[in-house]
Amino acid sequence: MKIALVLAMIGAASAVASAVSPVVLSAQTGRETIPFDRDWRFHRGEVANGQAAEIDDSSWRRLDVPHDWSIEGAGEEATLPCLNVVAGTWRFHKGDEPGWKDRSLDESGWETVKLPAFWNDHSGYTQENVYGWFRRKIAIPEKLKGKPFLLILGKIDDADETYLNGQKIGATGRMPPRYQTAWDTVRQYKVDPKWLRAEGENVLAIRVYNGQRQGGIYETGPETVAPEGPFNPLSPARDGGGYLDGGIGWYRKTFTLPPAAKDRRVRVEFDGAYMDSDVWLNGNHLGRHPYGYTAFQYDLTPHLKWDGANVLAVRLSVTQPCSRWYSGAGIYRHVRLTVTDPIHVAHWGTYVTTPKVAADAALVQVRTRVVNQGNSAADVRLETIVLDPQGAEVAKAEATASIAAGAENAFDQTLQVGQPKLWSIETPRLYQVISRVKIVFREVDRYATPFGIRTFECTRDRGFFLNGRRVPLQGVCNHHDLGCLGAAVYRRAIERQLEILKGMGCNAIRTSHNPPAPELLDLCDRMGLVVMDEAFDEWKAAKTPFGYGRFFDQWSERDLVSMLHRDRNHPCVVMWSIGNEISEQGSRNGYAMSKRLVDICRREDPTRPTISACNNPGGADRTGFAKPLDLFGINYNIGAYRQFKGRYALVASETASALSTRGEYNLVPGPDGKLQIQTQYKHQVTSYDRGAPGWGCTAETGLAAMVQAPWVAGEFVWTGFDYIGEPTPYAWPARSSYFGIVDLCGFPKDRYYFYRSCWRPEPLVHLLPHWDWPGYEGKELPVWCVTNCDSVELVLNGRSLGEKRLDRGKTFHVEWSVPYAAGTLKAIGQSAGQVVCTEEVRTPGKPKRLVLQADRSRIAADGEDLSFVQVQVADAEGLVCPNAGHLVRFRIEGPGAIAGVDNGDPISHEPFQADRHKVFHGLGLAVVKATRSPGRILLHAEADGLDPAEIALESNAGP
Ligand code: GAL
Repeated sequence: MKIALVLAMIGAASAVASAVSPVVLSAQTGRETIPFDRDWRFHRGEVANGQAAEIDDSSWRRLDVPHDWSIEGAGEEATLPCLNVVAGTWRFHKGDEPGWKDRSLDESGWETVKLPAFWNDHSGYTQENVYGWFRRKIAIPEKLKGKPFLLILGKIDDADETYLNGQKIGATGRMPPRYQTAWDTVRQYKVDPKWLRAEGENVLAIRVYNGQRQGGIYETGPETVAPEGPFNPLSPARDGGGYLDGGIGWYRKTFTLPPAAKDRRVRVEFDGAYMDSDVWLNGNHLGRHPYGYTAFQYDLTPHLKWDGANVLAVRLSVTQPCSRWYSGAGIYRHVRLTVTDPIHVAHWGTYVTTPKVAADAALVQVRTRVVNQGNSAADVRLETIVLDPQGAEVAKAEATASIAAGAENAFDQTLQVGQPKLWSIETPRLYQVISRVKIVFREVDRYATPFGIRTFECTRDRGFFLNGRRVPLQGVCNHHDLGCLGAAVYRRAIERQLEILKGMGCNAIRTSHNPPAPELLDLCDRMGLVVMDEAFDEWKAAKTPFGYGRFFDQWSERDLVSMLHRDRNHPCVVMWSIGNEISEQGSRNGYAMSKRLVDICRREDPTRPTISACNNPGGADRTGFAKPLDLFGINYNIGAYRQFKGRYALVASETASALSTRGEYNLVPGPDGKLQIQTQYKHQVTSYDRGAPGWGCTAETGLAAMVQAPWVAGEFVWTGFDYIGEPTPYAWPARSSYFGIVDLCGFPKDRYYFYRSCWRPEPLVHLLPHWDWPGYEGKELPVWCVTNCDSVELVLNGRSLGEKRLDRGKTFHVEWSVPYAAGTLKAIGQSAGQVVCTEEVRTPGKPKRLVLQADRSRIAADGEDLSFVQVQVADAEGLVCPNAGHLVRFRIEGPGAIAGVDNGDPISHEPFQADRHKVFHGLGLAVVKATRSPGRILLHAEADGLDPAEIALESNAGP
């Protein structure tokens, strides 16, 4: 049995066996940016004194970051045996006395009650009397004696404090005055065997607070827990967090620096660590950073050793539930060291705007903050050069200033660029500002800032304009996880997501509900997608017990400024969102709170509008919450588009939340024996566009609403990709979302084609369902053809089933009822009297073989590039068998590793980090990751009863 607290051994310095990574600098002076991702040591769980330089971490796991530990396996708690003590006889007493927790209390005067039960069912409970205590004696089964185990107490309405033999063993929710309900949480507290009595009885005492209506211990909770893979049905992260545990994690990295660099400044930059990090260098505390989604950095220089090893230690604390979706846990984004001369461009020290843009010339305004961390004043010359997209110099400005020791100077320069090549969605051209800092004639720093030249505007009456042209925002919201890779950042995985979304005609991303990895913005700059960059999902009023609400007062300005400074040079970013569905929308202080954040955005970047995504637009309008905003974000509430027309510039910041499972149709015989589409069935949601929660709508309804509201800037559909957590409309066994237009593997669902039919100009016909229904011969199946053609003709096995016309703008598909016969179903799309496109679905033969298809067969040997290999169960001809669910085992040879496996099934509990996985509706995914050695990678796949398959990938050195 693992013990949660590792008592770290403090040994002689020579016993420190951890690998030391030498930091190699290539020059004597100037700026160097050194990736700091490799060779960390990691320990999951608490470590006493884990920051101390001397402790021996050689037994800790060695790994590279970005890293997400919660995807790897359930926490220690999930492996503990359980004891459920809810059923049976308890004693209950109204009121509240501290002594009622004591083991020796005489409770003979207390009521006898049987649980599970609601408190007011038996107690005559009144609003005035909100506390009550439950007590019982528990017997410890022989097999649990001497070991830690989990005590299961079921669900308690609202908040509890639980004592065993007078010892507090846990609490969930919060008692007044900081009251917070936790009525829907199964209590499970770990019991340390030393709290138990060897002789005599063990007494459990539970103090319960109930805020309103009925309270008590009311649902028994599971008897035993058998976690499968990393998914833990009792995870404190619950359904929102995808049943993946958080907990505490420690990272340490031991490194040396060349003594020759002694006079330079060294900074460590974290793009993001989830969450509530504390960082130490050589035992010195550098700082705490609670928000897991903003970047942070520390100057290491004052505590660095130049003549020996340095230890950077990071402690992360993920107390669950902390998020409404899967957050991940760990140093899940990149880390780097920045080494500079004492005089250098400050961190995120440039701010580039383009105040005037015309066909013949654009003005480029550059503010550059230069800091002097040296010991004496210096005369600093700043040369600012603009490079065009081909890298040619097109403008230059110079300025000088004397900067005192310890001070900084902001240089403001205006440059002119002739005939600017504009950044747009179709042609995302990037310029660069190069800042050269010189002392006399010696260059001491050179810093590059990519930027774009473009204009945009959100109007109240005609929507969004980019470079003077109306561009409806065809956007999606996405969470940050990357499916089976968890929350760890992989540039290629993000790029692939964007490619798939662009293939649908998507031109906009909302980074719901937090600042994204910087890679996402770099990619959107390069690929031509506009971005709503979002700061928060909650302000002070919390949505989860351990969410951002805890930090809002103290940290919101710093976190918002961090996002604004990091991201304000990206041409892709066209709006700042100060928050999603903020509870304060409807409250009296809503106006003041939203104004404070909007003012910060305007102070730091007056060039972009601010928005907040409101699910209570009426409330936000009434309280004045919406007033300071430049853009009124409407989540759902289609009626609000018309209601607020002309009064605000509107963006449909969140739409649809339509639900479906790839490959599931849920055709179930009704009472008359006829097949009916069951929207929800066996924890799946049909792919016919029928599923939507009460607050949302189907894809089609959402698309039609946008067609009818051209004054709205456009929409951000919830969501582009499925994500881990929030498995609406279910909970366990479901563990990931059904909202995605694309599944967790990146395979499009049928819904993809609804958006594509609307968002891209190419003619399209797409048929659903698949055409493999053995046993359904002669039964009528609903056949839908998603299209943007004038009309579609359907042909089954060469026989026409008639032509249907599209009611354009209202609906995006046509449908038939077709008696099933195996064979070929063909859709023929016609527009203006011409056949413009066709699609066929065919009945496959028996599953015969595996087929592997890689999205890229050449990858870079850089230790992080990926190839996404789709595995198909196919018939002899190579047609995918949509009913297949075979278990596929993978084997890899050569310089590659399997980074993740998945099949897109939201109720699968197979681990993502494995060498095998079942396919789901004929498809599965293996993600192959390059090592740092070039060479040929061979991926083999085999499954019982099928011919195996093999694919070769080439991993190349160099760019
Ligand atoms: C919205 C919310 C999203 C997600 C979605 C599910 O109201 O902003 O984060 O929870 O609902 O439909």
